[in-house]
Amino acid sequence: MGSITIQGRVPLQGTVVIQGSKNAALPILAAGLLTSEESFIGNCPHISDVFRMLRLMKSIGCEINRQTDGYTVDASRVSRESVRLTGEAVAGMRSSICLLGALVGICGEVIMEPPGGCAIGARPIDMHIEALTKMGVTFSFQNGMMRAVAPELHGAEIRFGKKSVGATENCILAAVSAEGKTTIQNAATEPEVSSLCHFLTQCGAEIEGIGTEELTVYGGKKLYGTRFTVPADRIVAGTYLMSCIGTGGDVFLEQAPAADMTAVILTAARMGGKVWAGEEGIYVQGPIRPLPVPFLKTGSYPEFPTDLQSVLLAVETVGDGETIIEETVFENRFRIADDLNRMGAKIEVCEGNKAIVQGVPYLKGANVTACELRGGAALVTAGLMARGKTVVNDSSFIYRGYENICRDFRELGARIISG
Ligand code: EPZ
Repeated sequence: MGSITIQGRVPLQGTVVIQGSKNAALPILAAGLLTSEESFIGNCPHISDVFRMLRLMKSIGCEINRQTDGYTVDASRVSRESVRLTGEAVAGMRSSICLLGALVGICGEVIMEPPGGCAIGARPIDMHIEALTKMGVTFSFQNGMMRAVAPELHGAEIRFGKKSVGATENCILAAVSAEGKTTIQNAATEPEVSSLCHFLTQCGAEIEGIGTEELTVYGGKKLYGTRFTVPADRIVAGTYLMSCIGTGGDVFLEQAPAADMTAVILTAARMGGKVWAGEEGIYVQGPIRPLPVPFLKTGSYPEFPTDLQSVLLAVETVGDGETIIEETVFENRFRIADDLNRMGAKIEVCEGNKAIVQGVPYLKGANVTACELRGGAALVTAGLMARGKTVVNDSSFIYRGYENICRDFRELGARIISG
């Protein structure tokens, strides 16, 4: 599973280029199945979840070719009858569910294992199933496999009871193939949903309301191949921005999508960071010691993103006072609290979704273990801040979403190696 070793207490300094977005690339790759023409998807991050998605697409006959800075996708030989998705790539990744939405529109039957994903909560797919059922998909479950049959996919009026990024994306992917109009009320408005819509409209799809909670998709249009560049990853940029706040450094995050990071930038300023955001990226100067954010609640976009809650928690362990963090999206996203407390932090998790942090003067290096993607990255940040040596075990979780976190932090002066 690998490990990362850090000698901490080095203020991060310099420039780092932010990689392409995992959560934008994955549904866009799935969308590449929707046209029989070849598409080029550039700035795809070289991370294990992208490799899983590509493996799955190849397994059903899609031709994938790696270019210098992206992949060509040619789905012309994908079966129009029935496809079967099994194996670690399905059960090991949440985004395999996006293939369902894409495939039900182009072939009559999809048989697949339920998706996996980071152990940060139950991760049900009831909203996906309910929406696709309204569009004419019939589901059955047997021997741990899910079978989706869609003889006649048609438009529908979908209204989500709560925000779901994946369910919104799945609905869009099915709706562009469905005959007729689909409206999606209470759609997620994360930038990654908009990126998917921009890719699809470039292919010839007709989608109204992009970026809003109310989407309208006019399905059944012929889709063409296109060339698309995946935007930079706002969560990777936010991870490095918070790490700069925690180590008191000064860093330029080249290509960071500042326009999609307002809540994160405002929070960094509340923590004492000086932040300059522009087209080219984000420049940030960290404080000597982070200021405590008295209360922060995660939420759907444009609120503070749940995927940066762990790194905020790690940084505020040395804040100059008390910070209370409420996690509203996932049920089990404070799993790193125990490891941080072993590094000398004072975190109390209460009611399952609240963490009360009393800032301490410094963390001490320790042997810790990643158990999911963003928590693992936050433990690396804690190691960068801590006195002495920290070893983060099971670092393979981190490479699901970060191309090369050691390379990136080394470029900013950190003493860090992967083992
Ligand atoms: C996406 O996950 C992201 N993953 C997550 O990033 C991100 O944290 C999350 O959106 C934010 O909402 C990808 O894009 C690959 P949801 P997703 O559906 O789509 C509940 C990372 O670290 N729900 O928006 O799985 C769900 O349990 C990952 O990059 C249902 O109840 O998240 C959660 O409580 C982690 N039923 C809430 O909705 C459903 O059918 C929001 O989940 C679907 C979701």
